[in-house]
Amino acid sequence: GKDKELIRGSWESLGKNKVPHGVIMFSRLFELDPALLSLFHYNTNCGSTQDCLSSPEFLEHVTKVMLVIDAAVSHLDDLHSLEDFLLNLGRKHQAVGVNTQSFAMVGESLLYMLQCSLGQAYTAPLRQAWLNMYSIVVAAMSRGWAK
Ligand code: HEM
Repeated sequence: GKDKELIRGSWESLGKNKVPHGVIMFSRLFELDPALLSLFHYNTNCGSTQDCLSSPEFLEHVTKVMLVIDAAVSHLDDLHSLEDFLLNLGRKHQAVGVNTQSFAMVGESLLYMLQCSLGQAYTAPLRQAWLNMYSIVVAAMSRGWAK
């Protein structure tokens, strides 16, 4: 219905530029919770947001997150088909020390990025549509986390 149209329409252009939009998201995330920086310890330890943003592995993770969102947008008609993938993804994040509240904070950062990128097109129904989809993704990841 309407929710899916809003999501697909807004993702059409954003999804073509995953890294810059993902960087806006994670910059916001580290503003909301700077402690999350310490969970990214690649070769170059992420001591500051700038260190993190200049680390190729970190930018790969940004791309990975955007690809999960992309998969959710592509599977809006059957999000259940992503269940096993998302359970496993939640479990992996449990193993690297990410807690489930942080998934919700990524959601807030996602909405922030949408607001920045969409301008006038960021409406209350669009916000709610994205929140609904992201909540389904996070619910599955959180079930995997708790297993
Ligand atoms: C893997 C951190 C949120 C998608 C990882 C890894 C870390 C990490 C340390 C392992 C190293 C790596 O692959 O780069 C975090 C932190 C998050 C977060 C601190 C903040 C809450 C998310 C979210 C998604 C996501 C919300 C997707 C919606 C992925 C994917 C992988 C991954 C696809 C690769 C898993 C694999 O190797 O199979 N994450 N993550 N992450 N993350 Fe995240």
